[in-house]
Amino acid sequence: MSRHQQVGAGPIDVPDLEAGPVLLRKHRPDDIDDMVLACRDEQTWTWTTVPQPYEREHAEAYVARTVGTPVDGETRWAIEVDGRFSGNIGAMLDGEGRADVGYFVSPWARGHGVGSVALWLVCDWAFREGGCVVVTWNALVGNTPSRRMVEKVGFRVHRDVSRRYVVQRGERVDVWTADLLPEDLVLLGTLLP
Ligand SMILES: CC(C)(COP(=O)(O)OP(=O)(O)OC[C@H]1O[C@@H](n2cnc3c(N)ncnc32)[C@H](O)[C@@H]1OP(=O)(O)O)[C@@H](O)C(=O)NCCC(=O)NCCS
Repeated sequence: MSRHQQVGAGPIDVPDLEAGPVLLRKHRPDDIDDMVLACRDEQTWTWTTVPQPYEREHAEAYVARTVGTPVDGETRWAIEVDGRFSGNIGAMLDGEGRADVGYFVSPWARGHGVGSVALWLVCDWAFREGGCVVVTWNALVGNTPSRRMVEKVGFRVHRDVSRRYVVQRGERVDVWTADLLPEDLVLLGTLLP
């Protein structure tokens, strides 16, 4: 799809993206069991905005809304590793050249570079296909694994904390922020096992 078509507000499809052991694909109903497990993990709900407590209906509603189409401007992928659902990653395109990313990796897939490869794929897609000139990120202050992950991909983390920047379950909280320009994106080979 051309840059011209994507910069506007029109719908875009969710393409398969793949590198090494990581496949990004549309969500499927058979992801629901593993999504429930992942979203009940303490690290997931501590550092994201998933509902807490996380019920099966939350995953069912998420997948039903998400399957294959961008939701409210966000293009969402399931992360698959070795045939198993292993996380979510999404890019919110503002239609004016910026994408904001969010993700989790399921506990069973963490610590093997899955998140950084998935993030690289989405950033590369945003630059090549999404008409973006910058990708932005934020994480609750203290989320060191996520910060380390974006730094590996090439993001520059800003020195100052952005105070009360996001809402997590009704409370405004401080975040780290970062940005990535196309020339900052590391070579994919540096992230692959
Ligand atoms: C953050 C998250 C996505 C990382 O996924 P992952 O697949 O493990 O990521 P990667 O393996 O590519 O990179 C993680 C890096 O953090 C490092 N790390 C992990 N725990 C760490 C800690 N406590 N302190 C410092 N670094 C840590 C890892 O060693 C790795 O760096 P390395 O490759 O240099 O060793 C995953 O931990 C997660 O889903 N957490 C809960 C949800 C969440 O935080 N989502 C992001 C919200 S902004």
